[in-house]
Formats: sequence, C-alpha cells, structure tokens
Amino acid sequence: MSKTWFITGTSSGFGKELAKIVAQQDDINLVASARKMPDLDYLDEYDESKILKVILDVTDKTAINKAVDQIKDKFGQIDVLVNNAGLGYFSTIEESDMDEVKYMFDVNVFGLANVTKAVLPIMRAQKSGVIVNLSSALALTTIPTTGFYSATKYAVEGYADTLRQEVKDLGIQVMNVEPSGARTNWSGRSSEKTATKIKDYQQFSDSITSVSDSVTDAPGDPKLIAKVIFDQVSQNEVVPKHLPLGEFAYEGGLSNLSGIIDEMKSRKDISLSTDDK
Ligand SMILES: NC(=O)c1ccc[n+]([C@@H]2O[C@H](COP(=O)([O-])OP(=O)(O)OC[C@H]3O[C@@H](n4cnc5c(N)ncnc54)[C@H](OP(=O)(O)O)[C@@H]3O)[C@@H](O)[C@H]2O)c1
Repeated sequence: MSKTWFITGTSSGFGKELAKIVAQQDDINLVASARKMPDLDYLDEYDESKILKVILDVTDKTAINKAVDQIKDKFGQIDVLVNNAGLGYFSTIEESDMDEVKYMFDVNVFGLANVTKAVLPIMRAQKSGVIVNLSSALALTTIPTTGFYSATKYAVEGYADTLRQEVKDLGIQVMNVEPSGARTNWSGRSSEKTATKIKDYQQFSDSITSVSDSVTDAPGDPKLIAKVIFDQVSQNEVVPKHLPLGEFAYEGGLSNLSGIIDEMKSRKDISLSTDDK
C-alpha cells in the first residue's frame, strides 16, 4: 500500500525540495501545504492523482483540522508528518520585540505542536507513523543574536524528546533534524531582523548582518538536506532520534554538548549533594 507524507511549508526551501522528491516516488502520496495555493504550482508537473495540495497557516487551528480532514478523505492515512514550516528572528535578547518573538513561538512551537496533535489520532489508529521536526543546529549550540530562535528550537527538542517516549509503544517514531545554515529563504523573507538600538550591543549589529547573510550564502544545500531526510525516513525501520546536518551542527553541537557533560562530571559531588534520601 502507498505511504502518505504530509509536509508543512512547502512553498520554498527544505519543504519544497522534499516535496519534489516525494512527488517523484511511485509508491508515495504527497500532501503539500502552503499558505498560498499558487506557491504549489511547481507540483503540477507530477502525477496529480498522488498529490493533495492544501492551504495551511500552522497558526490557524481551524485550518489544521480542515487540512487533516482533507487528507483523511483523499488518502485515509498519514504515514509521515514533516513539521517543516518555520521562521527565524535575528536580535539580541534585550533588543527583541516580544510580540514578534511570540509570533515566532506560535509558528515554530505551537503551530508544530497543533499540527502534530491533529495527526496523532490517525497515527495511533494505524499503530504506525513517523514525525519529522525541522529543528536546527541552533538547538544543539547557540550564538549571539539568535537566542529566541534557539529558544523555539530547544522547545521543539524538549517537546519531541518527551513525545518520542510517549508514542514509542504506539508504533510512532519522532526524528528531530538539526540542519546548519542552508541556502533557503529562512534568513531572508522568513526572518525578522531587529536593528541594534541599544549602544551596549553595537558589536552585534554587524553580526546580525553577517549571520543572516551567511545563511544566504551558507554551505548547506537544501536539495542535499531534503534527500538525506527522505532517505533516513524511507530507508530505516528505526529512524534516528537526531539528525544533525552540516559541519556547524556536528562540530558545534558536539563541542557544546560535550562541554556540558564535562562540566556536569566535574561537579558531580555538588550535584549529588542535594538529595537527602
Ligand atoms: N535554512 C536554514 O539555515 C535552516 C537551518 C536550520 C533549520 N531551519 C528550519 O527549517 C525549516 C524550513 O525553513 P527553510 O530554511 O526551508 O526556510 P524557507 O525557505 O523560508 O521556508 C520556510 C517555510 O515555512 C513556511 N511558513 C512560515 N510561516 C508559516 C506559517 N505561519 N504557516 C505555514 N507555513 C509557514 C513558509 O511559507 P511562506 O512561503 O508562506 O512564507 C515556507 O514555506 C524551518 O523550520 C527553519 O527554522 C532552517
């Protein structure tokens, strides 16, 4: 029986590249979602009987339920959910506009969680499914000016690590993908950039420009990233829990995580001193 993949945010970037790969598979149905239907015109060259295009803003719960109903009607199942829709935000913590930060959490965290909540009943009934979350290298390590973006992706990591344990015995797996900077629209139209207003943070104004520019010119190729994600899900009975992609994710993540482990070990006595029974 054909599998069905549901991918959010397929108008550009990783989502679009992954949608194109899935659309070329004979034995896989594709549900591609975007906020604007014309953004999905690129799918018209593929077999339309295996493709469902849905309008979806992940901050709209009514639209999420409608999309999931449409998928049930057309394909009757969802085997793979790819929570890809997301946006960035470049600012020091103190200079951040908290309304903009809250909106980013609405998309990157609560949008992802609401889509997942709508899909889980289908996967539980099937007793199978894979949930793929586009997290970030910035959930494995951090740099100045992307603190609140990291906070959304760290939230996704903590949420997903818990969900994985809760749905494991129901046949459902959860994979977090942690890409390094890649050449998509993420740092461009998908990111807010706050201009430095507080003099004490002046040193970061250049870095905001260079961080965002460096993503535009980043080493990560969205086509290669989409291919690795597709291969890891379609070729493995058991998918990886974490998929760091690119040198920054791998080296930066290892350095940060091993630093935490080293510090924990060096203060073992203090850590264990607070339990009295
Ligand atoms: N590129 C990187 O360097 C990088 C690295 C690590 C992780 N990521 C993550 O990878 C994911 C994909 O980003 P990308 O790099 O491919 O950037 P992208 O090209 O900007 O794609 C982002 C996608 O998310 C969609 N989106 C944004 N807000 C949405 C909302 N409220 N509802 C539904 N869709 C929404 C966009 O749709 P519209 O076209 O309608 O705006 C677009 O399809 C994101 O979660 C991002 O945080 C990116």
